[in-house]
Amino acid sequence: MNRDVIIACDFNGREATLDFLDKFAGQERKPFVKIGMELFYSAGPDIVREIKARGHRIFLDLKLHDIPNTVKKAMRVLSELDVDMTNVHAAGTVAMMKAAVEGLTRPDGTRPLLIAVTQLTSTSEDAMRNELLIGAGINETIVKYARNAKEAGLDGVVCSPLEAGMVKAACGSGFLAVTPGIRFADAAADDQVRITTPARAREIGSDYIVVGRPITAAPDPVAAYNRCLAEFVG
Ligand code: C5P
Repeated sequence: MNRDVIIACDFNGREATLDFLDKFAGQERKPFVKIGMELFYSAGPDIVREIKARGHRIFLDLKLHDIPNTVKKAMRVLSELDVDMTNVHAAGTVAMMKAAVEGLTRPDGTRPLLIAVTQLTSTSEDAMRNELLIGAGINETIVKYARNAKEAGLDGVVCSPLEAGMVKAACGSGFLAVTPGIRFADAAADDQVRITTPARAREIGSDYIVVGRPITAAPDPVAAYNRCLAEFVG
Protein backbone atom coordinates (compact mmCIF):
# COMPACT_ATOMS: atom_id res chain seq x y z
CA MET A 1 0.00 0.00 0.00
CA ASN A 2 1.23 3.50 -0.85
CA ARG A 3 0.21 5.56 2.15
CA ASP A 4 0.81 9.26 1.61
CA VAL A 5 0.08 12.73 2.96
CA ILE A 6 -1.76 15.12 0.61
CA ILE A 7 -1.47 18.84 1.44
CA ALA A 8 -4.73 20.75 0.81
CA CYS A 9 -3.49 23.93 -0.92
CA ASP A 10 -6.53 26.03 -0.02
CA PHE A 11 -5.06 29.33 -1.22
CA ASN A 12 -7.01 31.81 -3.32
CA GLY A 13 -4.47 32.44 -6.03
CA ARG A 14 -1.39 31.38 -7.94
CA GLU A 15 1.15 33.55 -6.07
CA ALA A 16 0.16 32.41 -2.59
CA THR A 17 0.18 28.77 -3.71
CA LEU A 18 3.58 28.90 -5.40
CA ASP A 19 5.08 30.88 -2.47
CA PHE A 20 3.87 28.12 -0.17
CA LEU A 21 5.27 25.34 -2.37
CA ASP A 22 8.63 27.17 -2.61
CA LYS A 23 9.13 26.29 1.07
CA PHE A 24 9.42 22.64 0.02
CA ALA A 25 12.01 23.28 -2.70
CA GLY A 26 14.80 21.70 -0.66
CA GLN A 27 12.81 18.58 0.20
CA GLU A 28 13.71 15.32 -1.49
CA ARG A 29 10.06 14.21 -1.33
CA LYS A 30 7.84 16.62 -3.27
CA PRO A 31 4.51 16.74 -1.44
CA PHE A 32 1.35 15.37 -3.07
CA VAL A 33 -0.94 18.42 -3.24
CA LYS A 34 -4.70 18.90 -3.43
CA ILE A 35 -6.04 21.67 -5.67
CA GLY A 36 -9.65 22.55 -4.95
CA MET A 37 -12.36 24.56 -6.64
CA GLU A 38 -11.29 27.97 -5.33
CA LEU A 39 -7.76 27.78 -6.73
CA PHE A 40 -8.77 26.00 -9.95
CA TYR A 41 -11.54 28.47 -10.73
CA SER A 42 -9.31 31.48 -9.98
CA ALA A 43 -6.00 30.33 -11.51
CA GLY A 44 -7.29 27.91 -14.17
CA PRO A 45 -5.73 24.76 -15.64
CA ASP A 46 -2.32 26.46 -15.92
CA ILE A 47 -1.83 26.23 -12.17
CA VAL A 48 -2.16 22.44 -12.48
CA ARG A 49 0.45 22.33 -15.25
CA GLU A 50 2.77 24.61 -13.30
CA ILE A 51 2.62 22.60 -10.08
CA LYS A 52 2.96 19.35 -12.02
CA ALA A 53 6.05 20.73 -13.79
CA ARG A 54 7.60 21.34 -10.35
CA GLY A 55 7.37 17.59 -9.73
CA HIS A 56 4.35 17.38 -7.42
CA ARG A 57 1.61 14.80 -7.70
CA ILE A 58 -1.85 16.42 -7.82
CA PHE A 59 -5.28 15.52 -6.47
CA LEU A 60 -7.71 17.76 -8.40
CA ASP A 61 -10.69 18.04 -6.06
CA LEU A 62 -13.53 19.32 -8.28
CA LYS A 63 -16.26 16.87 -7.17
CA LEU A 64 -18.03 16.51 -10.52
CA HIS A 65 -21.79 15.84 -10.45
CA ASP A 66 -23.83 16.16 -13.66
CA ILE A 67 -25.44 13.97 -16.32
CA PRO A 68 -23.20 11.06 -17.42
CA ASN A 69 -22.39 12.49 -20.86
CA THR A 70 -21.28 15.85 -19.45
CA VAL A 71 -19.15 14.22 -16.76
CA LYS A 72 -17.55 11.91 -19.31
CA LYS A 73 -16.57 14.83 -21.54
CA ALA A 74 -15.29 16.92 -18.61
CA MET A 75 -13.22 13.97 -17.39
CA ARG A 76 -11.70 13.60 -20.86
CA VAL A 77 -10.41 17.18 -20.51
CA LEU A 78 -9.07 16.49 -17.00
CA SER A 79 -7.27 13.32 -18.15
CA GLU A 80 -5.20 15.50 -20.50
CA LEU A 81 -4.14 17.67 -17.54
CA ASP A 82 -2.18 14.69 -16.23
CA VAL A 83 -3.41 14.90 -12.63
CA ASP A 84 -2.84 11.88 -10.37
CA MET A 85 -6.22 11.77 -8.64
CA THR A 86 -9.61 13.39 -9.14
CA ASN A 87 -13.18 12.88 -7.91
CA VAL A 88 -16.94 12.86 -8.43
CA HIS A 89 -20.02 12.80 -6.20
CA ALA A 90 -21.29 9.25 -5.73
CA ALA A 91 -24.79 10.78 -5.59
CA GLY A 92 -24.51 11.22 -9.38
CA THR A 93 -25.34 7.46 -9.68
CA VAL A 94 -23.45 4.38 -10.87
CA ALA A 95 -24.10 5.35 -14.51
CA MET A 96 -22.47 8.74 -13.98
CA MET A 97 -19.47 7.20 -12.22
CA LYS A 98 -19.01 4.64 -15.02
CA ALA A 99 -19.09 7.50 -17.54
CA ALA A 100 -16.47 9.32 -15.45
CA VAL A 101 -14.13 6.29 -15.59
CA GLU A 102 -14.65 6.07 -19.36
CA GLY A 103 -13.93 9.75 -19.91
CA LEU A 104 -10.87 9.73 -17.66
CA THR A 105 -9.24 6.72 -19.32
CA ARG A 106 -6.59 7.83 -21.81
CA PRO A 107 -6.14 6.21 -25.24
CA ASP A 108 -3.22 4.16 -23.81
CA GLY A 109 -5.49 2.71 -21.09
CA THR A 110 -3.94 4.64 -18.18
CA ARG A 111 -5.93 7.04 -16.02
CA PRO A 112 -5.63 9.07 -12.81
CA LEU A 113 -7.06 7.55 -9.63
CA LEU A 114 -10.78 8.29 -9.39
CA ILE A 115 -12.51 8.49 -6.04
CA ALA A 116 -16.05 9.35 -4.97
CA VAL A 117 -17.41 11.68 -2.34
CA THR A 118 -20.05 9.71 -0.42
CA GLN A 119 -21.89 12.10 1.90
CA LEU A 120 -20.14 15.40 2.57
CA THR A 121 -19.10 15.62 6.19
CA SER A 122 -20.99 18.92 6.33
CA THR A 123 -24.29 17.11 5.65
CA SER A 124 -26.01 16.16 8.88
CA GLU A 125 -28.33 13.19 9.31
CA ASP A 126 -31.09 15.73 9.99
CA ALA A 127 -30.51 17.47 6.61
CA MET A 128 -30.37 14.09 4.87
CA ARG A 129 -33.74 13.09 6.28
CA ASN A 130 -35.65 16.36 6.19
CA GLU A 131 -34.20 18.19 3.17
CA LEU A 132 -32.97 15.40 0.92
CA LEU A 133 -35.62 12.88 2.04
CA ILE A 134 -33.02 10.11 2.42
CA GLY A 135 -34.50 7.72 4.97
CA ALA A 136 -31.42 5.53 5.54
CA GLY A 137 -28.89 6.39 8.24
CA ILE A 138 -25.73 8.28 7.36
CA ASN A 139 -23.39 5.27 7.80
CA GLU A 140 -25.66 3.03 5.77
CA THR A 141 -25.69 5.66 3.01
CA ILE A 142 -21.90 6.02 3.07
CA VAL A 143 -21.41 2.24 2.76
CA LYS A 144 -23.98 1.95 -0.04
CA TYR A 145 -22.44 4.86 -1.99
CA ALA A 146 -18.97 3.32 -1.50
CA ARG A 147 -20.26 0.00 -2.87
CA ASN A 148 -21.79 1.85 -5.85
CA ALA A 149 -18.43 3.53 -6.50
CA LYS A 150 -16.69 0.16 -6.43
CA GLU A 151 -19.29 -1.33 -8.78
CA ALA A 152 -18.69 1.55 -11.21
CA GLY A 153 -14.95 0.76 -11.24
CA LEU A 154 -13.71 3.64 -9.09
CA ASP A 155 -10.64 3.27 -6.88
CA GLY A 156 -12.02 4.49 -3.57
CA VAL A 157 -13.86 7.18 -1.64
CA VAL A 158 -13.25 10.36 0.31
CA CYS A 159 -14.50 9.84 3.85
CA SER A 160 -13.84 10.74 7.46
CA PRO A 161 -10.90 8.76 8.88
CA LEU A 162 -13.36 7.41 11.43
CA GLU A 163 -15.36 5.86 8.55
CA ALA A 164 -12.36 4.28 6.79
CA GLY A 165 -12.66 0.95 8.63
CA MET A 166 -16.33 0.63 7.72
CA VAL A 167 -15.62 1.37 4.03
CA LYS A 168 -12.76 -1.16 3.94
CA ALA A 169 -14.94 -3.81 5.58
CA ALA A 170 -17.61 -3.29 2.90
CA CYS A 171 -15.43 -2.82 -0.19
CA GLY A 172 -12.17 -4.62 0.59
CA SER A 173 -8.79 -3.44 1.80
CA GLY A 174 -7.64 -2.45 -1.70
CA PHE A 175 -10.45 0.11 -2.04
CA LEU A 176 -8.88 3.47 -1.18
CA ALA A 177 -9.92 5.61 1.79
CA VAL A 178 -8.84 9.23 1.28
CA THR A 179 -9.45 11.07 4.51
CA PRO A 180 -9.54 14.76 5.50
CA GLY A 181 -10.33 15.79 9.09
CA ILE A 182 -6.80 15.31 10.41
CA ARG A 183 -5.40 17.16 13.41
CA PHE A 184 -2.30 16.67 15.55
CA ALA A 185 -3.08 15.47 19.07
CA ASP A 186 -1.95 18.79 20.58
CA ALA A 187 -3.75 21.12 18.11
CA ALA A 188 -7.06 22.97 17.68
CA ALA A 189 -9.89 21.31 15.72
CA ASP A 190 -10.80 24.56 13.84
CA ASP A 191 -14.21 23.94 12.17
CA GLN A 192 -13.68 20.18 11.75
CA VAL A 193 -15.82 17.89 13.87
CA ARG A 194 -15.04 14.21 13.22
CA ILE A 195 -11.26 14.40 13.43
CA THR A 196 -8.36 12.16 14.28
CA THR A 197 -4.56 12.23 14.30
CA PRO A 198 -2.30 11.05 11.45
CA ALA A 199 -1.15 8.11 13.59
CA ARG A 200 -4.71 6.99 14.39
CA ALA A 201 -5.79 7.43 10.73
CA ARG A 202 -3.01 5.00 9.82
CA GLU A 203 -4.27 2.48 12.40
CA ILE A 204 -7.86 2.73 11.15
CA GLY A 205 -6.75 2.14 7.56
CA SER A 206 -6.63 5.43 5.62
CA ASP A 207 -4.54 5.25 2.46
CA TYR A 208 -4.15 9.00 1.97
CA ILE A 209 -4.71 11.74 4.54
CA VAL A 210 -5.65 15.20 3.27
CA VAL A 211 -4.17 17.83 5.57
CA GLY A 212 -4.77 21.57 5.19
CA ARG A 213 -4.40 24.06 8.01
CA PRO A 214 -2.28 21.88 10.34
CA ILE A 215 0.41 22.27 7.63
CA THR A 216 -0.50 25.46 5.70
CA ALA A 217 -1.07 27.57 8.84
CA ALA A 218 1.80 26.08 10.86
CA PRO A 219 4.71 28.37 11.83
CA ASP A 220 6.99 25.87 10.06
CA PRO A 221 4.94 24.10 7.32
CA VAL A 222 7.83 21.85 6.27
CA ALA A 223 8.28 20.60 9.85
CA ALA A 224 4.50 20.04 10.16
CA TYR A 225 4.47 18.10 6.86
CA ASN A 226 7.39 15.96 8.02
CA ARG A 227 5.60 15.31 11.32
CA CYS A 228 2.56 14.09 9.35
CA LEU A 229 4.78 11.84 7.24
CA ALA A 230 6.51 10.41 10.31
CA GLU A 231 3.19 9.65 12.04
CA PHE A 232 1.27 8.41 9.00
CA VAL A 233 3.80 6.88 6.62
CA GLY A 234 6.47 5.94 9.15
O1 C5P B 1 -7.57 22.65 6.83
P1 C5P B 1 -8.13 21.25 6.88
O2 C5P B 1 -7.11 20.20 7.27
O3 C5P B 1 -9.40 21.15 7.68
O4 C5P B 1 -8.49 20.96 5.35
C1 C5P B 1 -9.13 19.78 4.95
C2 C5P B 1 -9.34 19.80 3.45
O5 C5P B 1 -10.14 18.68 3.09
C3 C5P B 1 -10.07 21.02 2.93
O6 C5P B 1 -9.60 21.28 1.59
C4 C5P B 1 -11.52 20.60 2.90
O7 C5P B 1 -12.28 21.28 1.95
C5 C5P B 1 -11.36 19.14 2.50
N1 C5P B 1 -12.49 18.26 2.86
C6 C5P B 1 -12.94 18.10 4.17
N2 C5P B 1 -13.99 17.28 4.43
C7 C5P B 1 -14.60 16.63 3.43
C8 C5P B 1 -14.17 16.76 2.13
C9 C5P B 1 -13.10 17.60 1.86
O8 C5P B 1 -12.38 18.68 5.09
N3 C5P B 1 -15.59 15.80 3.69
